Parts: sequence; C-alpha cells; structure tokens
Amino acid sequence: MTSLPSEPAPRALHSVPSYLDKNNLGPWEIYLEQVDRVTPYLGKLAYWAETLKRPKRILIVDVPIHLDDGTVAHFEGYRVQHNTSRGPAKGGVRFHQDVTLSEVMALSAWMTIKNAAVNLPYGGGKGGIRIDPRNYSQGELERLTRRYTTEIGLIIGPEKDIPAPDVNTNPQTMAWMMDTYSMNVGRTATGVVTGKPVQLGGSLGRADATGRGVFVAGAEALGKLGMNLQGARVAVQGFGNVGYAAARIFHDHGAKIVAIQDVSGTIFSSAGLDPYAAQAHLQASGSVLGFEGSDALSREEFWQVPCDVLIPAALEKQITPENASLIQARVIVEGANGPTTPAADDILRERGVTVVPDVLANAGGVTVSYFEWVQDFSSFFWTEDEINARLDRIMREAFTSLWEVAERHGVTLRTAAYIVACTRVLEARALRGLYP
Ligand SMILES: NC(=O)c1ccc[n+]([C@@H]2O[C@H](COP(=O)([O-])OP(=O)(O)OC[C@H]3O[C@@H](n4cnc5c(N)ncnc54)[C@H](O)[C@@H]3O)[C@@H](O)[C@H]2O)c1
Repeated sequence: MTSLPSEPAPRALHSVPSYLDKNNLGPWEIYLEQVDRVTPYLGKLAYWAETLKRPKRILIVDVPIHLDDGTVAHFEGYRVQHNTSRGPAKGGVRFHQDVTLSEVMALSAWMTIKNAAVNLPYGGGKGGIRIDPRNYSQGELERLTRRYTTEIGLIIGPEKDIPAPDVNTNPQTMAWMMDTYSMNVGRTATGVVTGKPVQLGGSLGRADATGRGVFVAGAEALGKLGMNLQGARVAVQGFGNVGYAAARIFHDHGAKIVAIQDVSGTIFSSAGLDPYAAQAHLQASGSVLGFEGSDALSREEFWQVPCDVLIPAALEKQITPENASLIQARVIVEGANGPTTPAADDILRERGVTVVPDVLANAGGVTVSYFEWVQDFSSFFWTEDEINARLDRIMREAFTSLWEVAERHGVTLRTAAYIVACTRVLEARALRGLYP
C-alpha cells in the first residue's frame, strides 16, 4: 500500500448533513452506527473513515408523467452514489410510497459494503421513486420509469452507475430503463442496467441468484457449526423472489421447511411444507393460509417456531429487541436488507445465535448482476451451470474469509463483513489519493 498520512484520525465533524433531519435520521442512522462499530478495527485507514459517512453524489429529481385520466402527476425520485472508490456505483431501484432520501442513502451505502465484502469491482448506489405502484397502470409505470431514467441519465451509464431491480421493480422495468437510456445515447447499451430479461442481455441464473446465495451461505454456516443440512428445520419470512428460491433450494437439499410467513399469513408444519406446492397454492388462492397439511399461526408466533435456520426475506427491521429473545434458530441467514436492528443483533449475539448478515447472505443477486454486466460487455454468454458454479465459489470464499476474520477478532460476522469491506474501500481511497 502507498504511505498513509501519520496524523491521527480527524475528529468526525458535520457527519450529519444539513439535508437530513438530525432528530429523525431514519435508516441512515443504522448505517452510521455500523460504521462507528467498525472504525476501531480499521487501524491507520480510520484516517479516511469519514468518507464512508458521506455519499459521494446525490441526485433528487422531479418525475412528472401524464396519468391515464389526462392529468399530470409529479413524483419524487432519487439516485444516490455512495462510493465509487473501487469501481462504478451499483445498486437497485425501488418503487415504494415510503421511500425517503435517508433510506436510499442507507441502501446505497449497504451496496458499497456488500460489493466490497464479496470483492466485486463496484462501489455502491441505489435509487428510488416515492410511489405506490399498485395504484398505477402499466402504461403509467412505463412513463414513470422512462422519465426517471432520463432524469438520472446524467449520472448513470455502463461505466458509471448500473441500476438493477429492487422492491417493486422487475425485469420489465429494467427493459424500459435500458431502452430509454439507449435511445438517449443513440446506441443499444445493454450494460447500463442488470436484472434484464434474458432476451435483452440478461443473465441465466439471475432470477434465483439471491435465494441460491442465501442457501450457500446458510449451508456453510451449518457446516461450521457442525450441524446437518439434511433434515435441518428452516423457517422463512417472505415467500417472494428471495424467500421462495431459498426455501426451494434448502428443500431440494434435504432440509425441512417448517414455517412460511408472507404478507397473507403464517403457516407451520413440524413434518415439513413442500415449498413448490405452497407456492402453487399461494398463486391459486392469493394466500399461503389454507395450504394442505399446515396449521395457521399468528404473525407473532412465527418468531417462536422451533427451527434450526431462520431466513428473514421480506422487509427491514423485522428482528427487534421484542422478538430477538424468542427466536429458537441457531442460525439466521438474512435474505432481506436490514432485517435485524442493531439492538436485536446484540441480543442474538449474547444468546449465541449466528447471524449471517445481509451484506454477505443476499450478495448472490449482485454477484450474478456482475456476471450479467461482464457478459454484456463481451457479448458472450455463459451457461447456467457455469454461472451457478462461479456464484457458489464466490459465496463460499466470501463466507470463509469473513468467518476467519470474525474468529480472529472475536466479533460477529456482521462486524467482520464491515471490517473486510471498509478496509477494501478505504485502501482503494488511500491508494487513489484525494483529488485534486
Ligand atoms: N430480489 C433480489 O435479488 C434481492 C437481492 C438482495 C436483497 N433483496 C432483499 O430481499 C427482500 C425481499 O426481496 P424480494 O425481491 O424477494 O421481494 P418480493 O417482493 O419478491 O417478496 C417480498 C415478500 O415479502 C412478503 N412480505 C411483505 N410484507 C410482509 C410482512 N409484513 N410480513 C411478512 N412478509 C411480508 C411478501 O408477501 C413477499 O412474499 C428485500 O429486503 C430486498 O431488498 C432482494
């Protein structure tokens, strides 16, 4: 490494920017707390730690569209590039009525950490529009996506910042983004977004990638703890893209899915639930409730289900000090982003529950997004077997190196992930130096 300045780390000044409400910092506060927890482990690199607490670039845009009834509606849109020290920004776009600047900032920072933790050559970014998409037609959502893409077109691009799907966005949204960006630059630029349909330069294996990564990380954790995957009892919260794929793959490897909770309810069976049949039941009836051979539980009872592995794969802030002491699992594998609050994390640690943190456990999605981007650049596409083999290897190597760091420092896997990731980001910062 190049020489680092010998001065002590500067005292943190103005770490709360004027554009956030310092009395109600939202998800950004959780991220700041996570950075504070890791700073003592960064050695001389702590000199640069303040960089982590400030997003590099924030763009707030107005997104006006014609509604189907002929009126004009305006929506608030964001794109935040948290850090680009190690490569272009990368991260999803969320359509949700509760999106805030603080949330997009935190999600963009978590992408910086995730990409560095699994050693992908990216920085972190995230975008969002404050809208409840359930209340709008396909045509309205297409116009919204296209106008938003044009507004953030100033800062995105295959070598600058590469969006992807997140909550309430999907391959069709990415197809519209790719087309809009391509029309604006006058050439087909498939590499500007990932998570595209396979017909437009999307990657095989992307749909299941996050759930597959959750499985690989969970299986590694069971192995380290000397527990059997065969017959392991698994409870899943969230039965969408991530939760369903993870449940299926655990089931295919001999684990037993004992509980499933989604927005429609909670079902349980100590004998095990077939996730394929449960998903078919959900598609046919609109609810997991009433699935043959299952008992209904209350929302709260889900957290007390006797199980070995718990997979939160729905929303943020689900595991809280209220339910952390009830959880029976020995391993929690975070499919969702930010499902465990820092206070709940401390309780789980005291109780000896191993938490495989989101920045590692759900990194399978961005890893296959990286493969998609590489394939788009070379216009040479890999087989699904090649993709899965490379994904499994990256997830296993990342798990092993974080486990070693956790053991060496006597810290949780989450802190270990932050140590590894922040070290990589700040080494890049130090090597590049401060411009100009
Ligand atoms: N899709 C990806 O590739 C990916 C990658 C990394 C992280 N994530 C994260 O994983 C999480 C889930 O994403 P997804 O793509 O599977 O979304 P999704 O919309 O496909 O599924 C979400 C699931 O959560 C359930 N849910 C919603 N509210 C709930 C509640 N109050 N209680 C219980 N269940 C509830 C829904 O019913 C649904 O089954 C999010 O935190 C997302 O940021 C997703």
